[in-house]
Amino acid sequence: MRFLIENFGCQMNDHDMEKMGSVLIDHGHSFAAGIDDADIVIVNTCCIREKAEQKFYSLMGRLQHVRRKTGLILGVTGCIAEQEKENIFERLPFIDFSLGPSNIHKVAEAVDNAKGNLRTGGFGDNACSPSLFIRPHNTRQGVKGFVTIMKGCNNFCSYCVVPYVRGREESRPGADVLAEVREMAGRGIVEVTLLGQNVNSYNNGGGDLSFPELLKEIDAIPGIERVRFVTSHPKDISRELIQCFGTLGTLCESIHLPFQSGSDRILKRMNRGYTAAGYLEKVDALKEQCPGISLTADCIVGFPGETDEDFEQTMLLMERVQFDGIFSFIYSARKFTAAAKLTGPVPPPVAHERLARFQGRQREITLGSNKNMEGKKVEVLVEGPSKNSPDELSGRTRAGKIVNFKGDPDMVYKLVEVDIIKGYANSLRGRCESAPGGKQCSRR
Ligand code: 5AD
Ligand code: SF4
Repeated sequence: MRFLIENFGCQMNDHDMEKMGSVLIDHGHSFAAGIDDADIVIVNTCCIREKAEQKFYSLMGRLQHVRRKTGLILGVTGCIAEQEKENIFERLPFIDFSLGPSNIHKVAEAVDNAKGNLRTGGFGDNACSPSLFIRPHNTRQGVKGFVTIMKGCNNFCSYCVVPYVRGREESRPGADVLAEVREMAGRGIVEVTLLGQNVNSYNNGGGDLSFPELLKEIDAIPGIERVRFVTSHPKDISRELIQCFGTLGTLCESIHLPFQSGSDRILKRMNRGYTAAGYLEKVDALKEQCPGISLTADCIVGFPGETDEDFEQTMLLMERVQFDGIFSFIYSARKFTAAAKLTGPVPPPVAHERLARFQGRQREITLGSNKNMEGKKVEVLVEGPSKNSPDELSGRTRAGKIVNFKGDPDMVYKLVEVDIIKGYANSLRGRCESAPGGKQCSRR
């Protein structure tokens, strides 16, 4: 049968989608070209913020009609499945299965059950769940690969639903991760992103390798040129990890380090476990170890009790760090979380005004940082034709910035040296002197 997976949410979800795709392919199914062609539709969900949840329910409304017409098999997976558990079958009585993130390995079985008109529910945070260990085929084309190194989160930030829907932290043994990365390198993958809700606490409860040791081992794997990781918690960034940025050639000069707020009072209410000064200390240490490191972050505005003064502290922190980009959100109350019971809601117009001011200033900072790149030479991993002008190529720098330039199609999937001639709001324009073929770079 042909399947389609609609995906919402983070890179972990993108990767879970790849894992489910691989399980289904191993059971004889194949990708559908589109919804008209699909026998199975799976919606992989996110409930981190209210908006993601609303989008999911409106999509399900549309899919209900398609199902009625075509009789396709319809399944829900991911965080909303786990959040709702069996209740989802009351809310969406027309679905055939629902599997939480620790149960996605059962996707082929759920499809088989649905063929026999049997409904499947798979919920609960299973330690050693096979879901954590699935090694997907390279279903995305190209030379970039993703590896789950840990799952879950023990931090319980007061606004966050993740510990409730993705369960407690569990790390994959280092030997298993390394075997997967070696296998990927053997398939021609040159850039690997290590995934987990809180990768800095990888193997914190004990295990064969610490996170910095894992990075060192991956650095030594022939063929791997670039390593990234998401997501990091500021309180868990160790000195050893910061040193890795100065010593490991494969570790890209960029880090996503959510700060959430610049006000100590709000950080405390968020249960983040650090102060603004503590965050800035880590940032300074990273900048010292790796001059020019690109910093990105997440931030929440309008958290319950946030005053104008608290918000000004957030603006100050943003100004002080000069991030390359920030994902910023208005707080929304989430099921199960401690913050949902906090008093002092920020009126929506105030929260929107704060977000607009915050984003406006960050846009200026991002543009400034991109303009600063003009005249510099960078290494670009070419990913394919540019989205907006297909006769051009597009790729990313080690800092993760998008570069568009004219080049030879032979350069696709290669590392090439590009001169930056213009910085825009969301991308850079480059020139590749040594076309065709490009000057290939290798750090080895
Ligand atoms: N409201 C708004 N933003 C949230 N995030 C997580 N939970 C919430 C919430 N309840 C944001 C945080 C996190 C990112 C993935 O989503 O900034 O880092
Ligand atoms: Fe959520 Fe905090 Fe865990 Fe990140 S560290 S997943 S924000 S609870």
